[in-house]
Amino acid sequence: MQFPSALETVLAMLERIRDENIHRPCASRGTLETLNRNAPHKNDINNSESFRESKIDMLASVQARVAVCTKCPHLASSRTQTVFGVGNPDAEIMFIGEAPGVDEDAQGEPFVGRAGQLLTKIIKAMGFARKDVYIANILKCRPDMPAGSFGNRAPTPLEMQTCRPYLVEQIDIIQPKVLVALGATAVEGLLGSRGTMRELRGRWHSYNGTPLMITYHPAYLLRNQAPSEKRKLWEDMLQILERLEKPISEKQRNYFL
Ligand code: URA
Repeated sequence: MQFPSALETVLAMLERIRDENIHRPCASRGTLETLNRNAPHKNDINNSESFRESKIDMLASVQARVAVCTKCPHLASSRTQTVFGVGNPDAEIMFIGEAPGVDEDAQGEPFVGRAGQLLTKIIKAMGFARKDVYIANILKCRPDMPAGSFGNRAPTPLEMQTCRPYLVEQIDIIQPKVLVALGATAVEGLLGSRGTMRELRGRWHSYNGTPLMITYHPAYLLRNQAPSEKRKLWEDMLQILERLEKPISEKQRNYFL
């Protein structure tokens, strides 16, 4: 058995344990030995190409499960397609939004609408391309809307709780150096706690030991164009560049978006 399929088996087992509320997962000595035998050697892990390839395989296997997910029957029947995530499986930075909107549902890619265009601009101003970072949402389906209505609705706590395990798998596979939660809903989906942007943004939090920066959702900046608000988001991005020890130009320091 190859490492990605072994891992997939373990993840499926853990999911079952979680779903069935068994609190003490255990594995036989034989299972552990098989996993150890198939796990890549530490030197292989440092072989970035094979590591990247195994991440691609693992993400593809999660994506395949997401594509046929019907855990929220109302979303499964209303979506055009699921919107999994996009970018570098080895990304240092992973951006997390709330849910696909109408454009993302149509194109199958997160953050491609107006808010997405602003996010892309922010990523470029940081010195990256979209393909360098990873972008995903808490929800992989567009929250359904009453027939004939426009706009998007926020995901419900139950929808986020149901979909969250997929995001957790994505984070575990990608192992970014920094996570960025875009807006209070993304924070709630990821951490399970509600808070205001006023108290949450602009400082480091942690998700399972990974540094987490909380900042505004780009859609908020489309609604509120005040330069002071844009500058706040940009200062959060500067903190990320500093943490990753990336060079910051004078132009970047003074950037307002
Ligand atoms: N808003 C989000 O939170 N995610 C998207 O993919 C698009 C808009």
